Amino acid sequence: MPQSNPAVAAHSKSIKIVVVGAGSVGVTTAYALLLSGLAAEIVLIDIDKNRALGEVIDMSHAAHFAQARVRVGEYEDCAGATAVVVTAGVNQKPGQTRLDLIKTNYKVFKSIIPQIAANAPDTILLIATNPVDVLTHAAHRLSGFPVERVIGSGTAMDTTRFRHELGKHFGVNPRNVHAVIIGEHGDSQLPVWSLASIAGMRLKDYASQKGIEYSQDAMDECAKRTRDAAYEIIKKKGKTNYGVASVLVNILKPIITNGDALVTVSRVGTYGGVEDVALSMPCKLNRNGAHQDVPLLLNETEREALRRSAESIREVLDQLEQ
Ligand code: 2OP
Repeated sequence: MPQSNPAVAAHSKSIKIVVVGAGSVGVTTAYALLLSGLAAEIVLIDIDKNRALGEVIDMSHAAHFAQARVRVGEYEDCAGATAVVVTAGVNQKPGQTRLDLIKTNYKVFKSIIPQIAANAPDTILLIATNPVDVLTHAAHRLSGFPVERVIGSGTAMDTTRFRHELGKHFGVNPRNVHAVIIGEHGDSQLPVWSLASIAGMRLKDYASQKGIEYSQDAMDECAKRTRDAAYEIIKKKGKTNYGVASVLVNILKPIITNGDALVTVSRVGTYGGVEDVALSMPCKLNRNGAHQDVPLLLNETEREALRRSAESIREVLDQLEQ
């Protein structure tokens, strides 16, 4: 629905967002952005111009309900963009992990990231293509941008799914669940149980106050459903798009409005003692990009799981000539 908040509308007047890739994630993101009222102009770039044009004509018929102009563009149109969302590349097929996509999508990145960087040296890159952590690192190298301005959607998606699962389990709105998934947007991700809360209470205490049973098995099942959600969706419909598109718009919002929101996104840093790797931790998002906030007070098990997650991403990076 069109954005009615006047403060957001004022910010949005001069905002141009470019979406690279007119596959299902790219077009669903462009469409969600169009309806959000966060941007004045949305530019869609794809190697298949005809496909991009078809999507844009279709979307332009929603103009009556939207507040942005949407059009097809070239890399030169990245100039002046507040952010460029990169969704280009192949997506997972049933049975594939996100890491299986690396060779093909790294090649795609080698061709597109330098073109974006050359035309929009001050923009923020928001990477959604998988494996998102490895490609966020690659985009940082290929663009030469500072780490703050190369953001991967990372576990913002998994955190959303996790809160959804916990919300269902405890019978509360996911917005009232404070719990995060950190690490790889993939199989080595980890839930931070030690800091999870509802209404300021630890999950166990919330459950006992409410008179519902609490078991670690049930919690582990919520984490498993979160981790395996994309596999399940891909098995059934061949792709994921709505969840990730909404998450991308939710990451763009504090960037556009300088909102200082804490979101679990991927960026390059040192994690669990592993240097120069990209993975997700809560970051403060504003018009300058993603900033590491205070370090999470993890327990020892979580610290070890984070180190393992960082190492598994590092291994893939080591195999990739960059
Ligand atoms: C997702 O988690 C496939 O990474 C994509 O929806």
